[in-house]
Amino acid sequence: MPLTAPVDKSKEMEPRLDPQVAHRLRDLSLLVSLPQISLNLINLISDAGTTNKQLQAVVELDPALTAKVISLANSAFYSVRTPVLTVDRAITVIGYQELGLLALGLGLSETFDLSSVPMGFDGESLWIHSLAVSWLSREMGRHFDLIEPGEAMIAGLLHDLGTITLVSKFPVQFQHLLELIVAGQSGLEAENTLKLNHELVGYELACLWKLPLIYRESILFHHRPQRAPERSKIMATIVAMADILVRKIGFDVKTEDGTLDLGYCLETLHLSPESLHTFIREMLLGSQKVVPLWQQMVRHGHHKTPPPRTKFSSLMEGRGLGSGLSQKSERP
Ligand SMILES: [Fe+2]
Ligand SMILES: [Fe+2]
Repeated sequence: MPLTAPVDKSKEMEPRLDPQVAHRLRDLSLLVSLPQISLNLINLISDAGTTNKQLQAVVELDPALTAKVISLANSAFYSVRTPVLTVDRAITVIGYQELGLLALGLGLSETFDLSSVPMGFDGESLWIHSLAVSWLSREMGRHFDLIEPGEAMIAGLLHDLGTITLVSKFPVQFQHLLELIVAGQSGLEAENTLKLNHELVGYELACLWKLPLIYRESILFHHRPQRAPERSKIMATIVAMADILVRKIGFDVKTEDGTLDLGYCLETLHLSPESLHTFIREMLLGSQKVVPLWQQMVRHGHHKTPPPRTKFSSLMEGRGLGSGLSQKSERP
């Protein structure tokens, strides 16, 4: 697993945002808001002291959410012997954090409709990518005892809020972005050309929504964690690593590219290459079990099958990880 050279600051470029897009985002924030239940859930899941009863009380306030949660608990994925009829039992079956993630994801998908998106883009892949980053961020937080796992899970789910916003609320601009990528530009170059940096879009919206600081900053720095302020450096680094790793195993997004300085990440998180490698090996095995759950969560039947074994295998051997987490084309 090769470590890489220090960041060449001279090659860094500040991400930019078209003033008109920034202006429209401000208008949008008045028209489009995360449902109150989602905001409540963000607070509940972020708090390690939250009880099942508190979560149950919030879910039961929303009849549609209650129905979806019970329906998921009865799905084939959990293979329960007796039908699940209550939110209380659904929490036990699904698990407290998975249920919170599902509920939050449903709130987001109500706010951002990705069912009809610009040609050449797959909205469902973006949801799956977000769920995969959310899962891996949480597991990293838990496994290495680095950060509250519930917080890492939410940061992961929200990390590409900017892309979700661009796809669903700025389809004309996003179409231009895709055209530049098809013409050969990288996602980063295309975003810079059009001043449509998705980290900035997500950050702006998260600020307008007054989301907690840790989420605002992990959204802003998820491709350049070394630039994050000290207070959110660990979270931004975890999300950045999770983002690269899930892309390496097939949960990628057309507009996402770039690499990451693995040496920096390991140093920041006080991890050895060996411990990271062992963790990845365990997670790759686990991911094959949770993919069906993500597919159920996005509730579309046409998502591609789980990532091919070849990608799992190459990552487990360290080849994919080394090539993805390198220095060359690092984002600013
Ligand atoms: Fe991203
Ligand atoms: Fe991402």
